[in-house]
Amino acid sequence: MNSLSIITPDDWHLHLRDNPYLEAVVNDTARQFRRAIIMPNLDPPVRSCADALAYRERILAALTAGSDFEPLMTLYLTDNTRVEDIVAASASPYIHGAKLYPAGATTNSDAGVTDLARLARVFEAMQKHGFILQIHGEATAPEVDVFDREKVFIDQSLARIRHDFPELPVVFEHITTRDAVEYVSAADGNLAATITPHHLLINRNAIFQGGIRPHHYCLPIAKREAHRQALVTAATSGDRRFFAGTDSAPHSRQAKETACGCAGIYSAHSALELYAETFELADDFTHFEAFMSRNGADFYGLPYNQGRVRLERESWTVPASLPYPDTGLIPFKAGESLRWKQILDA
Ligand code: NCD
Ligand code: ZN
Repeated sequence: MNSLSIITPDDWHLHLRDNPYLEAVVNDTARQFRRAIIMPNLDPPVRSCADALAYRERILAALTAGSDFEPLMTLYLTDNTRVEDIVAASASPYIHGAKLYPAGATTNSDAGVTDLARLARVFEAMQKHGFILQIHGEATAPEVDVFDREKVFIDQSLARIRHDFPELPVVFEHITTRDAVEYVSAADGNLAATITPHHLLINRNAIFQGGIRPHHYCLPIAKREAHRQALVTAATSGDRRFFAGTDSAPHSRQAKETACGCAGIYSAHSALELYAETFELADDFTHFEAFMSRNGADFYGLPYNQGRVRLERESWTVPASLPYPDTGLIPFKAGESLRWKQILDA
């Protein structure tokens, strides 16, 4: 097989930042995806409908003319999120969920939730309105090993949320472990998970290969090879609860290559090709379109996209660096070659 054509895909987990960075990244995503769930972890975060709608306008303004890319907005949950905010957001055609960041878990999560108990009324309202909860699933207690944070979160927090709010639709974002795959696989229809291209392609050795590799540092951090394999099995299985979400998270080269580098991997530039590389390595494209273009839309209750994208088997090299304010942006797999290439129709 030398060419692939699938329904235009969506990215169900994306960081676009804000001006002056927005313009440098949004068109990379818009070239490959028709829609994306836009993460609200700006500084200050996107906490209200007004914040989300204003951010949406800035995203649309940064698109190249003629683009039909649609940003699907989310709210950032804090200890002080009000039920009214949720009710209003769930009535908006532009807002598609609310994101739970445990406080301190990752980039711009300081305003996140310190105690899940405080959100009981908010979760209740979300459950009532069928409003999707997106979760950064990592425990943050300092004694929990960084490689165990996802598993501990499942046991201590996710299981409790799902027990207390069984009808609440939840997306367990950017899963990285076999434990998460098993937990989601065993769950009923209200739980799904996104999987990133980098967690499908690297294990934790990549962070230390011949020296410290800041461009392979992200949160949740990459895990052991056995976990990567479980993610590949889930992504290629056709199971409707798993779908693409890149977690593409741009930080300038300077912010990555420093004594305390930021977490985040930039994959938007070649996301489609990176996912194709994974399915190629698994030697099974049977469920590629379901994972990229249908499962997420089904879970979010949105129609499939009308257009199609094409990929051809053609070796090409990911650029060493991309334009970005300050010091440029080093994309995932910079300087390495990939086996599939998106073909843009003239
Ligand atoms: C994300 C970012 O930079 O905003 N970083 C990351 O490593 N994935 C935040 C997040 O999703 O954890
Ligand atoms: Zn993210």
